[in-house]
Amino acid sequence: MMQLTSGQKRRVGITDTTLRDGHQSLLATRMKTKDMLPIAEKMDEMGFHSLEVWGGATFDSCMRFLNEDPWERLKALRKAFKKTKLQMLLRGQNLVGYKHYADDVVEAFVAKSAEHGIDIFRIFDALNDVRNMQKAIEEVKKNGKHVQATICYTIGPIYDLDYYLKLGKELKELGADSICIKDMAGILTPYAAYELVLALKKELALPIQMHTHYTSGMGSMMYLKAVEAGADVIDTANSALALGTSQPATETMVAVLNDSGYETGIDLTQVSSLAEYFKEVRKNYAEFDVYKAGVDVNVLRYQVPGGMLSNFISQLTQANAMDKFDEVLKEVPRVREDMGFPPLVTPSSQIVGSQAVLNVLTGERYKMVTNEVKNYMKGLYGRAPGKVNEEVRKKIIGDEKPVTVRPADLIEPQIEAAKKEIGDLAKNMEELLMYILFPQVAKPFLEGTLTEEKPQPKPAPKEEKKPEPEKSTVTPIKTNLSSGVGSAARFAASRKNMRTGAVNFNFNGNIEKLKIVVDGEGYKLDLGKETETKEENLKVNDRSSVKEKTVKKEVKTEASSQVVTVTAPMPGKIFKILLAEGSPVKQGDKVLILEAMKMENEILAPADGIVTKLVVKEGDAVNPGDPLFAVE
Ligand code: CO
Repeated sequence: MMQLTSGQKRRVGITDTTLRDGHQSLLATRMKTKDMLPIAEKMDEMGFHSLEVWGGATFDSCMRFLNEDPWERLKALRKAFKKTKLQMLLRGQNLVGYKHYADDVVEAFVAKSAEHGIDIFRIFDALNDVRNMQKAIEEVKKNGKHVQATICYTIGPIYDLDYYLKLGKELKELGADSICIKDMAGILTPYAAYELVLALKKELALPIQMHTHYTSGMGSMMYLKAVEAGADVIDTANSALALGTSQPATETMVAVLNDSGYETGIDLTQVSSLAEYFKEVRKNYAEFDVYKAGVDVNVLRYQVPGGMLSNFISQLTQANAMDKFDEVLKEVPRVREDMGFPPLVTPSSQIVGSQAVLNVLTGERYKMVTNEVKNYMKGLYGRAPGKVNEEVRKKIIGDEKPVTVRPADLIEPQIEAAKKEIGDLAKNMEELLMYILFPQVAKPFLEGTLTEEKPQPKPAPKEEKKPEPEKSTVTPIKTNLSSGVGSAARFAASRKNMRTGAVNFNFNGNIEKLKIVVDGEGYKLDLGKETETKEENLKVNDRSSVKEKTVKKEVKTEASSQVVTVTAPMPGKIFKILLAEGSPVKQGDKVLILEAMKMENEILAPADGIVTKLVVKEGDAVNPGDPLFAVE
């Protein structure tokens, strides 16, 4: 651009994401605080517009895997970065968790985050429903910090320029200080970005910051066109933790922009010296490293996030149904359309993806429906961006009226109740928030009984023993959205020959398992109802049996026909026991809750009878196949 090289240089800010999205994308969010602090002083001198260092998955990951206090991390980083602004990613009413929290929790969380050092809050909602961002925006303003309201970029018939302009205006009215265009899947093409940024700049007159992932290989071109259209800040990661599913490289963009007549305020030689440090650090996390060289062409072809495709491969391979891959890919846009075209980002990508897999494997659309889809149809995630297919909605929730209010209006305040629950264990609001957000992890963390994760060796291919007919050959795989996809796929691939498999449906890293039985005619879902042998196929014809709960359990029948022993379907912890030994039960009654990954799984009575042999107690860790209780 001639006028740029000869005229006045325009400032383009760089937000370095290495300490948040960089390692979240490439190292399963495992970078420890002790690997961040030694380089902080140097990074602080670079002249970054800001550093994204907190939020997203880091809060959970800190506690769960690293046995670190996320608040202590933030305080330490704030102390180390004396000049540079710090920013975080906040999932609107979901904060740094995966569900909506009450307004009092949002209020306290934002206040504490601001107090401990966050300057810029990037706030988004997976459905672009501004009502889910409203409370967080208000609170950030109240604390005198910068509100960066987010537009999740996606494509589909309803997503035209008008859609984005309208959304941008709503965010501005709510008090946005700047707008982030979040291209989580890496599908924003350079020229579409140019048009979008140009229009938004003209309409809103607010600073615009671009966020992308390099998965499709378009990221740096897209940034350049966005900058030409007037984008003010771009997100990049240090080259040692850039590209692939992470952001475009900081050094590349600095070199390009400084040379193109823009001014980043960053010296290329200086910033280049950071890579040496991060290259070394990256080696510490080799077992979590998900980097795949090159470009994920599937993202270009199907325009769905790369993680979603890996999940399909993993799920279908486990079900020995990889021949259904194309069918699933075709089903995704149909499900998305039925749901009113939600952007595909956590959690909507998992919700749409899993339902598409179910629709294909069951052979009938919405014959089985996940609980998440049910809640989505009830309006509990917020307003669908487009029109929901009412016929499908009716099939799923019957005559129930979907809620039309802001979902959080239906949530009672949570802080006082949580205080009562946890008592003296939470010494302050920070610890209480940890408990409210992730109770199952925070409790042992605060008790000091949580230990740092020992990375498990990647599962080795196992020669399958001849399966006994009445025994399940299901081996649940511990998968995690951010880390496990690769290893799960490898593991699943090694089990290609199995005739019975478990499909793990991944919701925000939470695993739901569904048994699949393969026979001559194809693939059948085994819902585990009183299964004597794996050949029993359950016909799921009426809606009442289409229960997510039923999907979650797996039952083995003992030799005696009168006693049904229920075993743990996945590794986890006994969260709550709801019925004591000796209690009478009806089939489908909740007996206990098993917490696995981040999800609470209701374990149900497989038949009418009496609960006997309750061999577990609350807090017990169980492995798949461990007996939990029996029903006589
Ligand atoms: Co991101």
